Amino acid sequence: VTDPELFDAFERTGWRGRASAYERGFARVTVHAVGPLLDAAGVAGGSAVLDVGCGPGPVTGLALARGARVTAVDADQEMFETTARRFPEATVLAARLPALPFGDDEFDAVVGNFVINHTGDPPVALRELVRVLRPGGRLALTCWTYPSMRAMDVFREAVEAAGAPHPRSVPATAPFSAFAERGPFAGLFTSAGCTEVMVDALRWTHRVDPERWWRDVLAGTCVNAAVIASQPPDLLARVKAEYDRLVAPYAVPGGDVELPVVALLAAGRKPGHQRSGPN
Ligand SMILES: C[S@@+](CC[C@H](N)C(=O)[O-])C[C@H]1O[C@@H](n2cnc3c(N)ncnc32)[C@H](O)[C@@H]1O
Repeated sequence: VTDPELFDAFERTGWRGRASAYERGFARVTVHAVGPLLDAAGVAGGSAVLDVGCGPGPVTGLALARGARVTAVDADQEMFETTARRFPEATVLAARLPALPFGDDEFDAVVGNFVINHTGDPPVALRELVRVLRPGGRLALTCWTYPSMRAMDVFREAVEAAGAPHPRSVPATAPFSAFAERGPFAGLFTSAGCTEVMVDALRWTHRVDPERWWRDVLAGTCVNAAVIASQPPDLLARVKAEYDRLVAPYAVPGGDVELPVVALLAAGRKPGHQRSGPN
Protein backbone atom coordinates (compact mmCIF):
# COMPACT_ATOMS: atom_id res chain seq x y z
CA VAL A 1 0.00 0.00 0.00
CA THR A 2 1.40 3.39 -1.03
CA ASP A 3 0.96 6.28 1.37
CA PRO A 4 -1.12 9.01 -0.42
CA GLU A 5 1.17 11.83 0.66
CA LEU A 6 4.34 10.03 -0.40
CA PHE A 7 2.73 9.23 -3.73
CA ASP A 8 1.68 12.86 -4.24
CA ALA A 9 5.18 14.04 -3.34
CA PHE A 10 6.66 11.64 -5.90
CA GLU A 11 4.21 12.90 -8.54
CA ARG A 12 5.18 16.52 -7.88
CA THR A 13 8.87 15.90 -8.54
CA GLY A 14 8.14 13.27 -11.22
CA TRP A 15 6.41 15.72 -13.58
CA ARG A 16 8.77 18.64 -13.03
CA GLY A 17 10.51 19.78 -16.20
CA ARG A 18 8.62 17.35 -18.42
CA ALA A 19 5.92 19.59 -19.92
CA SER A 20 7.49 20.32 -23.30
CA ALA A 21 8.59 16.70 -23.86
CA TYR A 22 5.09 15.59 -22.81
CA GLU A 23 3.47 18.02 -25.23
CA ARG A 24 5.61 16.77 -28.16
CA GLY A 25 5.25 13.08 -27.26
CA PHE A 26 2.74 11.57 -24.85
CA ALA A 27 0.04 14.21 -25.51
CA ARG A 28 -0.21 12.75 -29.03
CA VAL A 29 -1.68 9.65 -27.34
CA THR A 30 -3.94 11.25 -24.73
CA VAL A 31 -5.57 13.58 -27.28
CA HIS A 32 -7.52 10.63 -28.75
CA ALA A 33 -9.67 10.38 -25.62
CA VAL A 34 -10.58 14.06 -25.49
CA GLY A 35 -13.63 14.02 -27.79
CA PRO A 36 -15.31 11.07 -26.03
CA LEU A 37 -14.43 12.62 -22.63
CA LEU A 38 -16.14 15.92 -23.50
CA ASP A 39 -19.14 14.07 -24.99
CA ALA A 40 -19.51 12.01 -21.81
CA ALA A 41 -19.49 15.21 -19.73
CA GLY A 42 -22.03 16.87 -22.05
CA VAL A 43 -19.70 19.75 -22.93
CA ALA A 44 -21.26 22.11 -25.47
CA GLY A 45 -21.31 25.79 -26.35
CA GLY A 46 -21.74 27.89 -23.21
CA SER A 47 -20.87 25.13 -20.70
CA ALA A 48 -18.74 26.21 -17.75
CA VAL A 49 -16.08 23.47 -17.80
CA LEU A 50 -13.29 22.60 -15.37
CA ASP A 51 -10.34 20.73 -16.93
CA VAL A 52 -8.42 19.14 -14.04
CA GLY A 53 -4.80 18.04 -14.60
CA CYS A 54 -4.85 19.98 -17.86
CA GLY A 55 -1.21 19.22 -18.76
CA PRO A 56 -0.33 21.19 -21.91
CA GLY A 57 -4.02 21.63 -22.70
CA PRO A 58 -5.47 19.08 -25.16
CA VAL A 59 -8.83 19.02 -23.33
CA THR A 60 -8.94 22.78 -22.82
CA GLY A 61 -8.28 23.32 -26.55
CA LEU A 62 -11.12 21.11 -27.74
CA ALA A 63 -13.57 22.38 -25.09
CA LEU A 64 -12.86 25.97 -26.21
CA ALA A 65 -13.39 24.89 -29.83
CA ARG A 66 -16.85 23.67 -28.77
CA GLY A 67 -17.62 27.12 -27.41
CA ALA A 68 -17.31 26.21 -23.73
CA ARG A 69 -16.01 28.58 -21.05
CA VAL A 70 -12.98 26.76 -19.70
CA THR A 71 -11.15 26.85 -16.39
CA ALA A 72 -8.03 24.66 -16.37
CA VAL A 73 -5.83 23.61 -13.44
CA ASP A 74 -2.70 21.53 -13.02
CA ALA A 75 -0.37 20.75 -10.13
CA ASP A 76 2.72 21.35 -12.26
CA GLN A 77 3.68 24.94 -12.98
CA GLU A 78 5.22 24.36 -16.41
CA MET A 79 2.15 22.33 -17.46
CA PHE A 80 -0.43 24.97 -16.56
CA GLU A 81 1.79 27.74 -17.94
CA THR A 82 1.87 25.86 -21.26
CA THR A 83 -1.94 25.69 -21.32
CA ALA A 84 -2.18 29.38 -20.39
CA ARG A 85 0.21 30.31 -23.21
CA ARG A 86 -1.53 28.14 -25.83
CA PHE A 87 -5.07 29.09 -24.83
CA PRO A 88 -5.29 32.65 -23.53
CA GLU A 89 -9.12 32.46 -23.66
CA ALA A 90 -9.08 29.93 -20.79
CA THR A 91 -8.75 30.76 -17.10
CA VAL A 92 -5.71 28.74 -16.01
CA LEU A 93 -4.39 28.31 -12.49
CA ALA A 94 -2.36 26.11 -10.18
CA ALA A 95 -4.30 23.54 -8.17
CA ARG A 96 -3.60 20.06 -6.90
CA LEU A 97 -6.20 17.41 -6.24
CA PRO A 98 -7.62 16.61 -3.74
CA ALA A 99 -8.09 20.33 -3.00
CA LEU A 100 -9.58 22.64 -5.61
CA PRO A 101 -9.74 26.44 -5.13
CA PHE A 102 -13.42 26.72 -6.13
CA GLY A 103 -16.73 27.01 -4.37
CA ASP A 104 -19.41 24.31 -4.36
CA ASP A 105 -21.52 23.77 -7.51
CA GLU A 106 -19.47 26.09 -9.77
CA PHE A 107 -19.18 24.08 -13.00
CA ASP A 108 -21.62 22.54 -15.50
CA ALA A 109 -19.04 19.88 -16.34
CA VAL A 110 -15.82 18.64 -14.75
CA VAL A 111 -13.35 16.62 -16.83
CA GLY A 112 -9.95 15.06 -16.19
CA ASN A 113 -8.02 13.26 -18.92
CA PHE A 114 -5.62 10.75 -17.33
CA VAL A 115 -5.23 12.63 -14.07
CA ILE A 116 -7.19 10.53 -11.52
CA ASN A 117 -4.58 7.76 -11.99
CA HIS A 118 -1.98 10.24 -10.69
CA THR A 119 -3.72 11.07 -7.41
CA GLY A 120 -2.66 9.76 -4.01
CA ASP A 121 -6.21 9.25 -2.67
CA PRO A 122 -8.67 8.72 -5.54
CA PRO A 123 -11.90 8.49 -3.42
CA VAL A 124 -11.10 11.83 -1.75
CA ALA A 125 -10.26 13.36 -5.15
CA LEU A 126 -13.61 12.14 -6.56
CA ARG A 127 -15.57 13.79 -3.76
CA GLU A 128 -13.77 17.06 -4.43
CA LEU A 129 -14.48 16.88 -8.17
CA VAL A 130 -18.18 16.28 -7.44
CA ARG A 131 -18.27 19.10 -4.88
CA VAL A 132 -17.39 21.77 -7.47
CA LEU A 133 -19.93 20.39 -9.99
CA ARG A 134 -23.41 21.92 -10.06
CA PRO A 135 -26.32 19.57 -9.28
CA GLY A 136 -27.31 17.92 -12.56
CA GLY A 137 -23.81 18.51 -14.02
CA ARG A 138 -21.60 15.71 -15.30
CA LEU A 139 -18.15 14.49 -14.29
CA ALA A 140 -16.06 12.48 -16.78
CA LEU A 141 -12.61 10.97 -16.22
CA THR A 142 -10.29 8.71 -18.17
CA CYS A 143 -7.61 6.31 -16.96
CA TRP A 144 -5.38 3.64 -18.45
CA THR A 145 -6.09 -0.05 -17.93
CA TYR A 146 -3.29 -2.62 -17.87
CA PRO A 147 -1.94 -4.86 -19.30
CA SER A 148 -4.09 -4.11 -22.38
CA MET A 149 -2.63 -0.57 -22.63
CA ARG A 150 0.32 -2.06 -24.55
CA ALA A 151 1.92 1.27 -25.51
CA MET A 152 2.84 1.77 -21.83
CA ASP A 153 2.89 -1.75 -20.46
CA VAL A 154 5.80 -2.70 -22.75
CA PHE A 155 7.98 -0.45 -20.57
CA ARG A 156 6.96 -2.17 -17.33
CA GLU A 157 7.40 -5.58 -18.97
CA ALA A 158 10.82 -4.59 -20.33
CA VAL A 159 11.99 -3.60 -16.83
CA GLU A 160 10.73 -6.91 -15.45
CA ALA A 161 12.22 -9.01 -18.26
CA ALA A 162 15.60 -7.29 -17.84
CA GLY A 163 15.58 -8.09 -14.12
CA ALA A 164 16.01 -4.38 -13.33
CA PRO A 165 15.16 -3.55 -9.70
CA HIS A 166 12.35 -1.16 -8.77
CA PRO A 167 14.07 1.84 -7.17
CA ARG A 168 13.09 2.71 -3.60
CA SER A 169 12.50 6.32 -4.66
CA VAL A 170 9.56 5.29 -6.90
CA PRO A 171 6.26 4.11 -5.30
CA ALA A 172 5.72 0.40 -5.96
CA THR A 173 2.08 0.91 -6.96
CA ALA A 174 -0.20 3.84 -7.72
CA PRO A 175 -3.13 4.12 -5.27
CA PHE A 176 -5.43 4.32 -8.32
CA SER A 177 -4.36 0.87 -9.58
CA ALA A 178 -7.07 -0.67 -7.35
CA PHE A 179 -9.69 1.24 -9.41
CA ALA A 180 -8.35 0.78 -12.95
CA GLU A 181 -11.04 -1.68 -14.08
CA ARG A 182 -14.65 -1.11 -15.09
CA GLY A 183 -16.38 -2.11 -11.84
CA PRO A 184 -14.04 -0.38 -9.37
CA PHE A 185 -13.86 2.75 -11.56
CA ALA A 186 -17.68 2.93 -11.63
CA GLY A 187 -17.69 2.28 -7.88
CA LEU A 188 -15.53 5.35 -7.28
CA PHE A 189 -18.18 7.49 -8.98
CA THR A 190 -21.11 5.97 -7.13
CA SER A 191 -19.31 6.20 -3.78
CA ALA A 192 -18.77 9.91 -4.46
CA GLY A 193 -22.53 10.32 -4.90
CA CYS A 194 -22.87 10.21 -8.71
CA THR A 195 -25.84 8.71 -10.50
CA GLU A 196 -26.21 7.48 -14.11
CA VAL A 197 -22.66 6.12 -13.90
CA MET A 198 -21.22 4.54 -17.05
CA VAL A 199 -17.80 3.15 -17.95
CA ASP A 200 -16.68 2.56 -21.55
CA ALA A 201 -13.45 1.18 -22.97
CA LEU A 202 -11.77 3.38 -25.59
CA ARG A 203 -9.39 1.63 -28.00
CA TRP A 204 -7.01 3.03 -30.57
CA THR A 205 -3.46 2.47 -31.78
CA HIS A 206 -0.47 4.78 -31.47
CA ARG A 207 1.61 4.74 -34.65
CA VAL A 208 5.13 5.92 -33.89
CA ASP A 209 8.80 5.29 -34.59
CA PRO A 210 9.81 2.91 -31.74
CA GLU A 211 13.04 4.85 -30.99
CA ARG A 212 11.04 8.03 -30.74
CA TRP A 213 8.47 6.37 -28.44
CA TRP A 214 11.26 5.21 -26.11
CA ARG A 215 12.50 8.81 -25.90
CA ASP A 216 8.95 10.24 -25.62
CA VAL A 217 8.14 8.06 -22.60
CA LEU A 218 11.50 8.52 -20.89
CA ALA A 219 11.45 12.30 -21.30
CA GLY A 220 7.76 13.05 -20.98
CA THR A 221 6.14 10.69 -18.45
CA CYS A 222 6.50 10.02 -14.76
CA VAL A 223 6.68 6.50 -13.25
CA ASN A 224 8.17 4.41 -16.08
CA ALA A 225 10.65 7.18 -16.79
CA ALA A 226 11.78 7.30 -13.16
CA VAL A 227 12.19 3.52 -12.93
CA ILE A 228 14.18 3.26 -16.16
CA ALA A 229 16.28 6.40 -15.65
CA SER A 230 17.49 5.12 -12.27
CA GLN A 231 19.12 1.99 -13.77
CA PRO A 232 22.90 1.73 -14.23
CA PRO A 233 24.11 1.70 -17.88
CA ASP A 234 24.32 -2.10 -18.25
CA LEU A 235 20.78 -2.66 -16.94
CA LEU A 236 19.46 0.30 -18.94
CA ALA A 237 20.85 -1.34 -22.10
CA ARG A 238 19.12 -4.62 -21.13
CA VAL A 239 15.79 -2.82 -20.55
CA LYS A 240 16.11 -1.17 -23.97
CA ALA A 241 16.88 -4.54 -25.62
CA GLU A 242 13.78 -6.05 -23.98
CA TYR A 243 11.73 -3.03 -25.11
CA ASP A 244 12.96 -3.57 -28.70
CA ARG A 245 11.92 -7.23 -28.46
CA LEU A 246 8.49 -6.42 -26.98
CA VAL A 247 7.54 -3.77 -29.57
CA ALA A 248 8.82 -5.79 -32.58
CA PRO A 249 5.51 -7.70 -33.07
CA TYR A 250 3.74 -4.36 -33.60
CA ALA A 251 5.99 -3.29 -36.53
CA VAL A 252 4.29 -1.98 -39.67
CA PRO A 253 5.93 -1.38 -43.07
CA GLY A 254 8.17 1.70 -43.02
CA GLY A 255 9.74 1.16 -39.59
CA ASP A 256 6.99 2.42 -37.28
CA VAL A 257 5.10 0.36 -34.71
CA GLU A 258 1.36 0.46 -34.09
CA LEU A 259 0.92 0.03 -30.36
CA PRO A 260 -2.51 -0.84 -28.95
CA VAL A 261 -3.89 1.72 -26.50
CA VAL A 262 -6.82 1.04 -24.16
CA ALA A 263 -8.36 3.57 -21.81
CA LEU A 264 -11.41 3.54 -19.57
CA LEU A 265 -13.81 6.47 -19.71
CA ALA A 266 -16.14 6.87 -16.74
CA ALA A 267 -18.86 9.48 -16.30
CA GLY A 268 -21.66 10.25 -13.89
CA ARG A 269 -24.14 12.92 -12.94
CA LYS A 270 -24.28 14.88 -9.70
CA PRO A 271 -27.78 14.40 -8.35
CA GLY A 272 -30.01 17.30 -7.49
CA HIS A 273 -31.97 20.05 -9.12
CA GLN A 274 -31.06 20.53 -12.78
CA ARG A 275 -31.13 24.12 -13.88
CA SER A 276 -31.67 24.68 -17.59
CA GLY A 277 -28.41 24.84 -19.50
CA PRO A 278 -26.33 23.16 -22.20
CA ASN A 279 -26.05 19.91 -20.19
C1 LIG B 1 -0.89 12.22 -17.99
S1 LIG B 1 -0.92 13.96 -17.74
C2 LIG B 1 -2.49 14.38 -18.52
C3 LIG B 1 -2.48 15.78 -19.10
C4 LIG B 1 -3.68 16.14 -19.98
N1 LIG B 1 -4.93 16.06 -19.24
C5 LIG B 1 -3.75 15.29 -21.23
O1 LIG B 1 -4.84 14.84 -21.56
O2 LIG B 1 -2.72 15.08 -21.89
C6 LIG B 1 -1.28 14.13 -16.03
C7 LIG B 1 -1.30 15.56 -15.59
O3 LIG B 1 -1.89 15.62 -14.28
C8 LIG B 1 -1.14 16.49 -13.48
N2 LIG B 1 -1.35 16.04 -12.10
C9 LIG B 1 -0.81 14.98 -11.48
N3 LIG B 1 -1.29 14.87 -10.24
C10 LIG B 1 -2.16 15.91 -10.06
C11 LIG B 1 -2.97 16.35 -8.99
N4 LIG B 1 -2.98 15.70 -7.82
N5 LIG B 1 -3.74 17.46 -9.15
C12 LIG B 1 -3.72 18.13 -10.33
N6 LIG B 1 -2.95 17.77 -11.39
C13 LIG B 1 -2.20 16.67 -11.25
C14 LIG B 1 0.28 16.38 -13.97
O4 LIG B 1 1.05 17.51 -13.61
C15 LIG B 1 0.07 16.23 -15.47
O5 LIG B 1 0.04 17.48 -16.11
